[in-house]
Amino acid sequence: MTDEALARAIAQIELARARGACPVVRSFFDEATFTATHVAHDPVTLEAAVIDSVLDYDPASGRTSTHGADEIIAYIREAGLKIVWQIETHAHADHLSAAPHLQLKLGGRLGIGAAIMTVQTVFGKIFNAGTEFARDGSQFDVLFQDGDAVPLGALPGIALHVPGHTPADMAFIIGDAAFIGDTLFMPDYGTARADFPGGDARQLFRSVRRLLALPPETRLFLCHDYKAPGRDAYVWETTVGAERARNIHVHDGVTEDEFVALRTARDATLGMPRLLMPSVQVNMRGGRFPEPEENGTRYLKIPLDTL
Ligand SMILES: [Fe+2]
Repeated sequence: MTDEALARAIAQIELARARGACPVVRSFFDEATFTATHVAHDPVTLEAAVIDSVLDYDPASGRTSTHGADEIIAYIREAGLKIVWQIETHAHADHLSAAPHLQLKLGGRLGIGAAIMTVQTVFGKIFNAGTEFARDGSQFDVLFQDGDAVPLGALPGIALHVPGHTPADMAFIIGDAAFIGDTLFMPDYGTARADFPGGDARQLFRSVRRLLALPPETRLFLCHDYKAPGRDAYVWETTVGAERARNIHVHDGVTEDEFVALRTARDATLGMPRLLMPSVQVNMRGGRFPEPEENGTRYLKIPLDTL
């Protein structure tokens, strides 16, 4: 079966590189959650996308803050960018999204993969959310399907469905740059975990190989970096060629079965992310908090002995 969306993504990247039609990318790294937020813009029209924003959250006090997000807003205003997209590569389990705050201040349509509905169904059950919590993705403005166009100003863009870490993961290819969420990490760190509800190591391998079929020079922008042993700096940009040559989990030559065995063994050693409970409850609602109770306070729940 030919992969028509992938073929279009490859053609788009080759054309973008030939014409120099490439987005400018500025990244902001949140050391508390190891998350890279990317702001990509078309240098001609200044139309821009914010990809995977972070709301500061202190789990001890339950207090949120927009300190980090406001730095991004300052950069966008200073550069005169026009935000057209607020993009989530998936429903994150390690940080709260700041998309509603950024959208309020800057606009842009909030988009995520259409399989968010599966994630909402799974976590809606886990958190015993009431009927006020819609499981139809209606908290988002756009639900992306594989192969959908995601243009940014004069730059063409395409969304690729890359499930495995979660069912709803999407990669966004804009010009020559691919924003790949939680699939691959830096070559010396490997790949994203695949053991959350709905995750699947075999699916993750296939998604990763799909991304690695993009041209070797394709710029890859990652969602996280944790530094690898022996490395002192956080890094969130690499290329397809570097991943194929050196990724410790999925360099060229690693078979699907080898990857699944390795990924599954590693996942069995990992604890749940520190902010999983608050993150998922907020992010499954498009970054919005649950409705306030009758005293006006909003609460997050913690299901005991469930995950
Ligand atoms: Fe994630």
